[in-house]
Amino acid sequence: MNKTTTTHKTALITGASSGIGKALSYQFAQDGYHLVLAARSMVKMQDLADDLQQRFNVLVTVIGADLQTNEGAARLHTDIKARGIVLSALVNNAGYGGFGEFKDTSLDSEMAMMQLNMNSIVVLTKLFLPDLLAMQGKILNTASTAAFQPGPFMAVYYATKSFVLSFSEAIASELEDTGVTVTALCPGPTASGFQDKAELGNSALVKGKKLPTAEEVAALGYRAMQDGRRVYIPGFMNWVMAQSMRITPRNLATKVVKTLTRPVV
Ligand SMILES: NC(=O)c1ccc[n+]([C@@H]2O[C@H](COP(=O)([O-])OP(=O)(O)OC[C@H]3O[C@@H](n4cnc5c(N)ncnc54)[C@H](OP(=O)(O)O)[C@@H]3O)[C@@H](O)[C@H]2O)c1
Repeated sequence: MNKTTTTHKTALITGASSGIGKALSYQFAQDGYHLVLAARSMVKMQDLADDLQQRFNVLVTVIGADLQTNEGAARLHTDIKARGIVLSALVNNAGYGGFGEFKDTSLDSEMAMMQLNMNSIVVLTKLFLPDLLAMQGKILNTASTAAFQPGPFMAVYYATKSFVLSFSEAIASELEDTGVTVTALCPGPTASGFQDKAELGNSALVKGKKLPTAEEVAALGYRAMQDGRRVYIPGFMNWVMAQSMRITPRNLATKVVKTLTRPVV
């Protein structure tokens, strides 16, 4: 594959221990980026780091970080700066969802989800922006096709992803003359650890469906980031759906998602 050579740059990838984040780490490493991997599962990340270092001859730093606490994101920044690392790319990818009627779902889990999916992205982007401005770097935020409309049965998750999309597009505009690009990657349902964690097994969204792999989504998302795309939706049908949601009356769009996401037996 013809890839851009980007030796000596360093990328931070959150949520690198599995799924899309793990697959993204291969994309960056293949292109010569040194990496900082951050998530909670140290053993998985250390195994990944060993493989990346061996295959691509890049430096990989593994940092255990819980980004669903108030202090977690700020501590990750402090830790990276203490190691003298300057970032050229920031990938805000860690996130999770939850399936169920809002009246039944766990408030604690939803508060933690909001902290992880939204607040940690704002904190890390704010704190690493000086690095990224100095390096004319890149920001890749993993949003979702959930960002384009409300999501009955995953109400809080869809709202967090709308936040990610709106925030990403706004700062992309502010930063347009600085050399820093911001890309919101908006995948549809993708095979990863996400479905189990969100207890989505009984949702029509994924039940019996063949989903694209995390590797396919990561490869497309990485290319979109390198091309400086502001919003990128992998998969033609996902793209059609997202565009149609933008012009569909809000009530109707919400009904469509309710049907597509409903619990099935
Ligand atoms: N899969 C899909 O269908 C889909 C579709 C659209 C968008 N997305 C988005 O894609 C992103 C990646 O998800 P995925 O599909 O790759 O799912 P995944 O396989 O479950 O990966 C989630 C990653 O987030 C990390 N994470 C979870 N809680 C964390 C915490 N408190 N602190 C730090 N890291 C944490 C996990 O690591 P640890 O557990 O080791 O901490 C893991 O590395 C998410 O933002 C998700 O919303 C997924």
